[in-house]
Amino acid sequence: MLGMDAPRLRRRLDKEPTGGMTLMTSDALPQSSLVAVIGSGTMGAGIAQVAAASGHPVLLYDTRAEAVPAAIQGVCQNFQRLCSKGKLSAESAERASGRLRAAANLREIGRAGIVIEAVVEDLEVKQQLFREVERIVGANCLLATNTSSLSVSAIAAALRAPQRLVGMHFFNPAPLMELVEVIGGLATDQQSLAAIYATAAAWGKTPVYAKSTPGFIVNRVARPFYGEALLLLTEQAASPATIDSVMRESGGFRMGPFELMDLVGLDVGFAVSQSIFNAFFGDPRYRPSLIQQEMVRAGYLGRKAGRGFYEHGENARPAQPSTEPLAPRPNRVVAPSEGRLAVALTKRLAGTGIEIVSGRPRHDCKDWAEVGDTMVAVTDGRSATKRARETGHRNLVLVDLALDYTKATRVAVTAASTCDERAYLSAVGLLQAAGFAVSRLKDVPGIAVMRTVAMLANEAADAVNQGIATAADVDTAMRKGVNYPRGPLEWAEELGLETIQTVLAHIGAHYGGERYRISPLIRQLVSSDGKFHGPLIP
Ligand code: NAI
Repeated sequence: MLGMDAPRLRRRLDKEPTGGMTLMTSDALPQSSLVAVIGSGTMGAGIAQVAAASGHPVLLYDTRAEAVPAAIQGVCQNFQRLCSKGKLSAESAERASGRLRAAANLREIGRAGIVIEAVVEDLEVKQQLFREVERIVGANCLLATNTSSLSVSAIAAALRAPQRLVGMHFFNPAPLMELVEVIGGLATDQQSLAAIYATAAAWGKTPVYAKSTPGFIVNRVARPFYGEALLLLTEQAASPATIDSVMRESGGFRMGPFELMDLVGLDVGFAVSQSIFNAFFGDPRYRPSLIQQEMVRAGYLGRKAGRGFYEHGENARPAQPSTEPLAPRPNRVVAPSEGRLAVALTKRLAGTGIEIVSGRPRHDCKDWAEVGDTMVAVTDGRSATKRARETGHRNLVLVDLALDYTKATRVAVTAASTCDERAYLSAVGLLQAAGFAVSRLKDVPGIAVMRTVAMLANEAADAVNQGIATAADVDTAMRKGVNYPRGPLEWAEELGLETIQTVLAHIGAHYGGERYRISPLIRQLVSSDGKFHGPLIP
């Protein structure tokens, strides 16, 4: 039972970020204020570009003397490129370039209105740096760290005034990615948080508040996107190309998990996985993958090494997803008038000459279609074989979740071990007649998209439940920070939290252990109104 009524709970989830603090508003840093960026590598250069494009004078510093001119040159080239694409006038490009200056030593940052640190990801280095910075800058200077994995509270602990330090986590490439996570440590005061938030917004970014916890929002909530894919690969459910195609063409994700891991670099991804796993004291939910470890050991680091889950480079052969060959087209299908798959099938089969007979809703299955003696149904997290045994439908073919069944170009399916070949092929023929490419996976519970979305929603719900961020901010972060087609919580609401709970319970029963434990918030909301988002939240 709920400890508080649903509207009050909803207000709490949506309105009180950073664990119950009531946040104040603040003015952004004035455009005339000097922005000092320390560390002029990938992120420092990107952040300097954002600040200069927003009209600030920018000072760059790095302990590697050659890093600063290289960063300034790179940013100026980017402005030129934007100019030749017509996105920036020649005058604006020149003025923005003219705002960038190199600092020969740290003492030059004394007049900065904000210092943003983007140096190597090392706690001692960052602490030492901020100790020095604190001695140089004025009392009103904002202090921000771009750390992606260290505790903001721990970095701040080295300061005389730890309340000034705020996490300002940009995403790579900083000029293009809209999201900035604004992270409060235990000591951070609200004024500093609000000022960084307002400044990020003034720079054209979408800021979200987060508490200082491992992975903040995005790097934590995204874990299952990789974790579930790696588990599927470990269990030989399908090839990376097949899983990636299903995640893109059915799940609506811009890139598949293996493509993304190859792009980011397996060494980087594996380091993040290990750091999150260790930071959560070995919580099995975050256990890194042995496959990833072995590939890192072999030097198969992804694109930069020419080899990862895929081959890269000029002579690389593109890997193809496994796609079922064309199966005979059925003459007749029975489908109810409700259920996302059933409704989409009815729509997509119109004009194909296949007779569509309206079926009555069933008590044992929400979203289904029948072709001959084959039952085709959307996965509920049970394996097809288990569900066939429990429901008595021997010829059972399960279909994975799609972001939108009316638009998806591919679906993944699994078949019960009791399903005979003819019955399986009639399900494949039906889906193909509706215009789907069909990828068959081993009979794993929750297939690919459904288990990933359920786990993303579960992780997001835990983050909200633990006061890391609001539901609205978690969804925004995942859409803007990693381009998910839909926020995991709004996706879960659309599917129904009861469905998510059922899927997780079934997958959890299959594997045992703690990995699929259901977020207390999902359980709580299932017994109330089933909504993370209040009516006021877009
Ligand atoms: P990078 O290696 O490209 O650049 C780091 C720069 O800091 C180097 O030029 C190095 O010479 C300089 N540096 C090291 N110690 C210094 C010191 N004490 N004082 C001044 N400069 C110093 O690294 P990158 O990728 O730009 O990362 C920087 C920070 O941003 C790290 O904390 C990282 O975790 C974080 N981050 C990285 C993202 C990415 O995708 N690369 C995304 C978001 C955050």
